Amino acid sequence: MATGATSPVPGAPAAVAAPRARAPAWRAPWWLQPLLVVVVLTGFGLYATWAAFQGHGHRVGPYLSPFYSPVIGDVGPISPALWILWIPLLFRATCYYYRKAYYRSFFWDPPACAVGERRRGGYHGETVFPFLLSNLHRFFLYLSIVVLAFLWYDAVEAFLDNGQLRIGLGSVILLVNVTLLTLYALSCHSLRHLLGGNVDCYSCAVAGNARHGLWKRLSVLNKRHALYAWLSLFSVLIADVYVRFFAAAVEGLRVLR
Ligand code: FES
Repeated sequence: MATGATSPVPGAPAAVAAPRARAPAWRAPWWLQPLLVVVVLTGFGLYATWAAFQGHGHRVGPYLSPFYSPVIGDVGPISPALWILWIPLLFRATCYYYRKAYYRSFFWDPPACAVGERRRGGYHGETVFPFLLSNLHRFFLYLSIVVLAFLWYDAVEAFLDNGQLRIGLGSVILLVNVTLLTLYALSCHSLRHLLGGNVDCYSCAVAGNARHGLWKRLSVLNKRHALYAWLSLFSVLIADVYVRFFAAAVEGLRVLR
């Protein structure tokens, strides 16, 4: 049978040529991903700042915007959201994944794999303010877990009307949001290290088997940390927008009556 390839050794069977890998029809330019990160993070930052300074329109019926949870009454001259938002903000800003994303996109440090550094000056890493705060990531994780507990409480409340179960679009949005935020926190590198890291021998450590089991499960989630980081960012945004629209619609109907 003719194979189209000849053997260099007379009499030996001809080698079968390996199929050539097909070149992708379109390869995204390296700058596209950093550009998208800049656009999304800047857009989210601007919207979150606007929403945090509103101080109203964040609560309607059983729905509470995640930007304003836990509820803090009017304390001082600033919007209640500002007493809370620094926790999730610093949790995300010091996240290992987001650090990679914004170092590349905003600082071009470097902008992408196999793309040269643009930096001329000395490299200080995370030894100077504000990047020094990155070393506190695990403490922002602890605080965020407390905020997360309040968000779960809000999500359950969104399904209740005078003690009866009621399901609305808002309840579903708040539930999806808190689920994604929980996946984001559970897939955190610091949490994985806290539960399963720093151990040379699981069978010698206290509760070693349990820790090993937890570490393995968190490792599965950890592989998708970047995905949860983006999905939860969008879900927070969608939850706040929905609550604001709903509050505005209810207020509009009240005025019309
Ligand atoms: Fe991303 Fe901890 S590493 S939240």
